[in-house]
Amino acid sequence: MCGILGYLGNKNGVPLVHEGLKALSYRGYDSWGIAAIRGKETIIQKEVGDISKCAPMDAHSPIVIGHTRWATHGGVTDNNAHPHTNNDGTISVVHNGIIENYHLLKEALLEEGYTFTSETDTEVIPHLIDFYMKRGKTFKDAFARTLKDLKGSYAILAMHALEGIHFARNGSPLILGIGDNEMFVSSDIPSFLPHTKRIITLEDGDYGSLTPLAITNKGKPVKREESLAHWDLEVAKKGTYEHFMLKEIEEQPLTIRKALNQPCELIVKATQLMDTSTIIFVGCGTSYNACSIALTHFVHAGKQAMTVLGSEFESVLPYINNKTLLIAVSQSGETADVIDSIKSAQKKGAKVISIVNSPSSTIARLADLTIPMNCGPELCVLSTKSCTSQIAILMMLAFALQKKDIGLLKEAADTALHVIKQTKPQMQQLARKIANERSMFVIGRKSLAHVAREAALKIKEVSYIHAEGMPAGELKHGTIAVVCDGLPVIVFADNQTRAHTTSNAMEVKARGAFVIGIDSKPSHAYDYHISIPDIEEATPLIALLPVQLLSYYLALERKCDPDKPRNLAKSVTVR
Ligand code: M6R
Repeated sequence: MCGILGYLGNKNGVPLVHEGLKALSYRGYDSWGIAAIRGKETIIQKEVGDISKCAPMDAHSPIVIGHTRWATHGGVTDNNAHPHTNNDGTISVVHNGIIENYHLLKEALLEEGYTFTSETDTEVIPHLIDFYMKRGKTFKDAFARTLKDLKGSYAILAMHALEGIHFARNGSPLILGIGDNEMFVSSDIPSFLPHTKRIITLEDGDYGSLTPLAITNKGKPVKREESLAHWDLEVAKKGTYEHFMLKEIEEQPLTIRKALNQPCELIVKATQLMDTSTIIFVGCGTSYNACSIALTHFVHAGKQAMTVLGSEFESVLPYINNKTLLIAVSQSGETADVIDSIKSAQKKGAKVISIVNSPSSTIARLADLTIPMNCGPELCVLSTKSCTSQIAILMMLAFALQKKDIGLLKEAADTALHVIKQTKPQMQQLARKIANERSMFVIGRKSLAHVAREAALKIKEVSYIHAEGMPAGELKHGTIAVVCDGLPVIVFADNQTRAHTTSNAMEVKARGAFVIGIDSKPSHAYDYHISIPDIEEATPLIALLPVQLLSYYLALERKCDPDKPRNLAKSVTVR
């Protein structure tokens, strides 16, 4: 969480970093800030709120660092916004991650007479560099020495008027962009994509300087391979859309197809790896829901398989051995809970397949085999197209185990186009009808119970309406007590589950609920029917689409920003 960006070159870096931070703001948008070198002086602009609504300061500088924040230590205030500086303002620092021992470091620095102006963990860094410089070290050596004091995860940029920009990576992503007579260093590629596609992905433990480019790890110079970023700049733009969320929802007919378009050898290798005794799927949020939706297909393929949340992974550690395959699913490839799960499973001998959208991400690099989602940058904080790509790939793997043709899944990509077109006006109308509700429930059975969970997550995170997704059969075991007059209950049903699910729908209808059925067939249980085709096992892939649209329109009705919901960040790199 948080995005950092540095520029060193022959252009004015201020507007350039300001623009780049907008592309990073999916990582956090509580506040933002820029520090620029002007002569021997450092000038700083910091503001609370959305960077896209603010202009950059009127300054010219070829050496600039910037930050977009998701608050961890300290509230959302100007003072807590990065960059942070030492007391004479000569050293400025931006940081993504958490310095776990900052309390101890801060106490020691306070005793040395340093004054702090923020509540952040980051502020210890410029003071420590200053501390070591005052004891005779160069900026470079003081930076390297400071890193030894820090415990925790970080990507750091430190800037000094005479020394340029120095960087360090340990547990948070950091990528170099190599342009013509200019260098970028950033948490993610889209921030410098308009300027260069040449990248170097840094490894944990790497630190160094931008010009001349020097990378060190464990005290020794290292060379990291340069590669070309495969991001398409146009995909990273909104085009004619007002929000990335709608654009990304509507991209799904194409992205499902791209997800299924994997080289044969890759799927063969994955199938060989799946020939282990147990498969454990790990993910968080939407990625976890995608695993749960697909799980039943692996069980039907005869595999012993289970899903586990990244944040709860420790509870299954006793099961893991060298016959376990971990399938780690993550759009960003940087989710800390999933990274921790992979590392602890690998220690016990497990093999890892990752399904990620960013092949240069930490999770991809940790895995034995990576299946790329190929859905292009997903810039809305909500996962939409990445979710259907994950489900498509997981189902394709389960089909491969059963030597089943994936025609049905390809059909889902075509059907998705039809479903989006047909249900869009209906979802707009439904959003207007239920936008003022305070709470709703979403139910389904089998895979559709997990679709219900994902649907509820979409509704609550973007419209802030409380929504709970659960297996339809569980309602009667307690939750039905909450059902009252007019409460919206969204019901997912298909040919396999309809009989029982519509009985549950009748039970809530009898208690006054407003029942919205997402089903290929109408039912007297539904007060409002959204018709989607039944495409057998692939139905979950398309069932989500109307609710993604509904969530989007609910956000608009309630004047919420669909791309940047409050309190969230796209890439969750804290534990
Ligand atoms: O990048 P990941 O897929 O690992 O992210 C995991 C969750 O943080 C993420 O799926 C989150 O729940 C969604 N953005 C919700 O829409």
